Parts: sequence; C-alpha cells; structure tokens
Amino acid sequence: MEAIFMRILICRPDHYDINYKINPWMNPDDNPSESEIAWVQWERLADKINCFAEPVVLDGVKDLPDMVFTANAGLILKDKKVILSHFKHEERNGEESHFKKFFEENGYEVLYPKSNFEGAGDALYLKDVLVGGFGFRTDESFYDEFFDELENVIKVKLVDPYFYHLDTCFCPLNDKGDYMIYPNAFELSDLKRIREIGNIEITVPEEEAREFACNAVVIGDNVILPSGCEETEAQLQSIGFETHPLRMTEYIKAGGACKCLTLKL
Ligand code: ARG
Repeated sequence: MEAIFMRILICRPDHYDINYKINPWMNPDDNPSESEIAWVQWERLADKINCFAEPVVLDGVKDLPDMVFTANAGLILKDKKVILSHFKHEERNGEESHFKKFFEENGYEVLYPKSNFEGAGDALYLKDVLVGGFGFRTDESFYDEFFDELENVIKVKLVDPYFYHLDTCFCPLNDKGDYMIYPNAFELSDLKRIREIGNIEITVPEEEAREFACNAVVIGDNVILPSGCEETEAQLQSIGFETHPLRMTEYIKAGGACKCLTLKL
C-alpha cells in the first residue's frame, strides 16, 4: 500500500501563535489562539497521520509562529529536488533558512526562486499538471521562472482574499484527477481549465469552504479534514473515500487547517 511509505513533514507548534496579520483570518487582538487547544488539535492531527503515513517532525522556532504550516516550506519535485519557498511577507521570511536546512540534511537538491513563492500551499498537482495558484502570495512570474523545471503548468489566479493560498480552495484527491474545489475563489476561465483536466468534482459549499473543507490531507482513500464539513464528507464518501474530521479551530484563526500543517515528502 502506497500510504505506508509516504513521509509527511509536520512542525511542532512550540511557538505557534497569532501575533501579526497577513491574511483576513488573522485577528491577533480579537481572536487569539489558545495554545493548549492548539497543541491538542495538532497532536490529534499527528496521531491521525501516523495511522496512514510516517510523520517527520520538525521543532518549532522562536519568533516564527507560522512555521507550523509546513505546506509552505517548498514544492517537492521528482528526483529529490525541491523549490524552496520565498515568502511574500517578511514575518515568514525567517522560516526559509530552517526549511532549507531540513531539505539539505535530507538529501534534497534545493532550488531558489527569485519570485515570491509559497510552496505546496500554492502549487498542487492534478494528475500530471501542476495547478499553479498566484495573486495573493505567489507571483505569477514564479511559474515562468521555473518553466523548464515544472513542464506542465496551468496558472490560476486566486480572487478571494479569504482563499489566499490554492490549498484553501482546491484539493486534488487521486491520480484519476478527482478533486475538491470552492469555485468562487477562481475566475471562470481558470475553473474551466481545471475542469477540463480533472475528473469527478466535489463542489464545496461556501459555509464549508469557510471551515476549510478543501484543506484536507489525502492519504490513499483516507481524507483528513476539518470538522463541520458534513456535506463535503458525504460527497467524499459517495465516491469511496473514508473521512476523518478533526477540530482545527486554533489553526483556522491563522488561516490554515489540516493540509497547511503538512508537506508530503
Ligand atoms: N498564517 C499563515 C499565513 O498567512 C497561514 C498559512 C496557511 N498555509 C497554507 N498552506 N494555506 O501564511
């Protein structure tokens, strides 16, 4: 079974907090995260991942509260190459050297973008096509800069500031090209191109998109997603997935959930 051999990078929430605002979800004064609850939610996610894959755990780093969101470390390519992220906001730039060190120590060839690029938060494979999100964090020019390396790319513009990373509104499910999507986060022409490539679409309703339904970790037939997304779960089950809902409230306050907290190695 493929799942057993999959390694997934996660980062302990040792220094997780919400003390700046770089997306509309983050409100440090009015809606702070509760550290103890954040720990419990993260540990439940780590335990769940451990059922289906091998978690690889990084320590958190002081003053880098968003480092828990390892989806933004980089984009893993074939042949053990990785394109390291280059964060748009200076609040997260300090994470780059820590992720670089991890990749180097683990035998990856590390490539460095000049453009802003936020890794597997913005670039996701649907079959063999890289769906490349841009607009809020990643620059459109990133995909031109790495044109040779990436081969088959469609660039899609993100249009809703609440869905500022591609993985907040789109989730490929398998090699057949099934996917979940919140359509209002995209322009119609881009949606059309995604639909041409994809197979079965699970259309996530707005209320559940706002609960981060698309921010799911897919391991084989298992989908780990935030709780409160029953309609999405029913649709996933109807096409043969087993769903594993987890409370993710403390991370949603920072604009992230299950998938943002992971990077498939
Ligand atoms: N607070 C973080 C940020 O704004 C959340 C990152 C969520 N990560 C993701 N892959 N969507 O950068």
